[in-house]
Amino acid sequence: TITPVILSGGAGTRLWPMSRGERPKQMLALTEDSTMLQVTARRTCGADYGAPIVVASAAHADMVEAQLAEAGCSPGSIILEPAARNTAPAIALAALAAGGGATPLLVMPSDHVIVDEAAFHKAIATALPLVRDGWLATFGITPTGPETGYGYIKAGSQVAPGVSRVERFVEKPPREKAEAMVRSGDHVWNGGIFLFRADRYLEELQRYAPDMLSAARSAMAAARRDGVRIMPDAAAFERSPSDSIDYAVMERAEQVAVVPVSMGWNDVGSWDALHAISECDTNANVCRGDVVALDTAGSLVHSDGPRIAVLGVTDLIVVASGNDILVLPRGRSQEVKRLIEAMKDK
Ligand code: GDD
Ligand code: MG
Repeated sequence: TITPVILSGGAGTRLWPMSRGERPKQMLALTEDSTMLQVTARRTCGADYGAPIVVASAAHADMVEAQLAEAGCSPGSIILEPAARNTAPAIALAALAAGGGATPLLVMPSDHVIVDEAAFHKAIATALPLVRDGWLATFGITPTGPETGYGYIKAGSQVAPGVSRVERFVEKPPREKAEAMVRSGDHVWNGGIFLFRADRYLEELQRYAPDMLSAARSAMAAARRDGVRIMPDAAAFERSPSDSIDYAVMERAEQVAVVPVSMGWNDVGSWDALHAISECDTNANVCRGDVVALDTAGSLVHSDGPRIAVLGVTDLIVVASGNDILVLPRGRSQEVKRLIEAMKDK
């Protein structure tokens, strides 16, 4: 069986003020009543998959465990990172916890929307035979614009029905390069979901990031365990370089395949993305919480506390959470990162 690996260590800063250090995006119910972590866990909770390995920050241990229990998906283990070292080391911990053998790992972000789950499971089944043969599989999404926050994949020759060899993997290209790749029509986005054997991933790390692998191995060898919780040794894990799987492995590895899949994928990376996938009334306003909106169009108005009342505005994003209020025009929500930086200096 396939072991799901759920990555839940990101900060989701572009969804400030709702998403914060103590409660990042994946622990929020942004699109439905369940949190994104719960929706992710349920997606592979059942007969076809083994119990998931969740990798999260030690700071969120109780929240993660409670959310999984509420979702009715018991994890095989929850690996609690003592420090954030990005996705490549986090996946190394999971591959080692899975035993490091030929078990296929389905690595998933904890903060994506997938509307068509049947298409998702079918794409995984399509990739599985090649994965058993040692390939690292990615899932390709048709681009809708020159996004610079994604990985781009150029598919080469077909290696099996519905699967192509990856000719090139370009992580987070600059704007002009992204535009050219979208224009070319032969690139897809990397969906951030991976399927590979645990031993194959560890082999690739040994080759391209041996320091990372040895740090992860020492951290797991000296890990403390408490029920499903695994606490890797902090001093050892902190010695790991910090890098994403995309830069550390996927851009470099040889035997990488892509399965194009149309499944209503969205990474909900910003308030604009959230606005695009959910609607609350015919004027294309997305309103959650205690919100009153009159003569308002194309706006996202979101509150988890104070009442928000808006009148006569168009294409605006207004979000209130705790003591914080965010207001910006639609189309600029990528720039929330600038605000976070500016607030740090205050
Ligand atoms: N456990 C753990 N530890 N999880 C982490 C860490 C970490 O240090 N850093 C990030 N994550 C989690 C995030 O919570 C998210 O669920 C997932 O790993 C991916 O990390 P992101 O930081 O969101 O990656 P990205 O969005 O910049 O880029 C990736 O996803 C894109 C699609 O959304 C790449 O794979 C791109 O190529 C891809 O296009
Ligand atoms: Mg992301």
